Amino acid sequence: MSVTTRDIRARKNSGEKLVMVTAYDAPTACIVDEAGVDMILVGDSVGTNVLGLDSETHVTLDDMVHHARAVARSAANALLVGDLPFMTYRISTEQALATSARMIQDGHMHAVKLEGGVEMAGRVEAITGAGIPVMGHIGLTPQSVNELGGYRAQGKDSKGARSIVDGALALEGAGAFAIVLESVPYRLADLITERVGVPTIGIGAGPSCDGQVQVINDIAGWNPDFLPKHSKRFGNVEAELRKAVAGYVDEVREGSFPTERNSFRIKDEVIEELDD
Ligand code: KIV
Repeated sequence: MSVTTRDIRARKNSGEKLVMVTAYDAPTACIVDEAGVDMILVGDSVGTNVLGLDSETHVTLDDMVHHARAVARSAANALLVGDLPFMTYRISTEQALATSARMIQDGHMHAVKLEGGVEMAGRVEAITGAGIPVMGHIGLTPQSVNELGGYRAQGKDSKGARSIVDGALALEGAGAFAIVLESVPYRLADLITERVGVPTIGIGAGPSCDGQVQVINDIAGWNPDFLPKHSKRFGNVEAELRKAVAGYVDEVREGSFPTERNSFRIKDEVIEELDD
């Protein structure tokens, strides 16, 4: 591991933005790692982006560990952060510690991420106290989608904004090494970024956060039906994949693939012997 949580903290006020992106499998992890991202997030967004689920609330700890291990096998440089999935850390401190331990021991992650502000500060303190680094996540917290009434920006009124500021301060106080701010107005993100001493990592939180995180499917263009307002397509993986599969289908059907070049040879006498 070359990037550590210490390096991430040190980047606050350094003027150099932190870059984080999700990955859920070994080949993608290899590509993003070699591109030089600082952190790879094995997010519970694996549920909606890879597993065909309609919400993060259906992702299990076993799902997360399975994907985390795949990412860990091929990422050599980035700090690896694994999401604690829905209801695997809220029931008790003991549960939160056991889940975090599993993400580190079985999932081979370097740190965990959990959702929630003031109400989760005690959990963050216990997990960091046990030697496991924690990244906080406030604003739009997808695991609470049913309570929030949809995937919508948070902190637009004074009560909501105050609770996000308090959450950021509580997470910092509890020992979080960085805090994700998801879908909050950019002026609120600016204020939080100025007030907390740990890096803020924005997704839909404007340009002045200390870093940015995005979902790989969104930035790679592998999400044909929907692009969140906070994202941007930097490629078109979906179109490339469709082209590749269509070409394969056509060539097999017309008989132009495979050719001898894609096939293995055998000595004539072996075939002749079989003919006898
Ligand atoms: O699971 C995920 O991809 C996330 C990001 C949106 C921050 O939590």
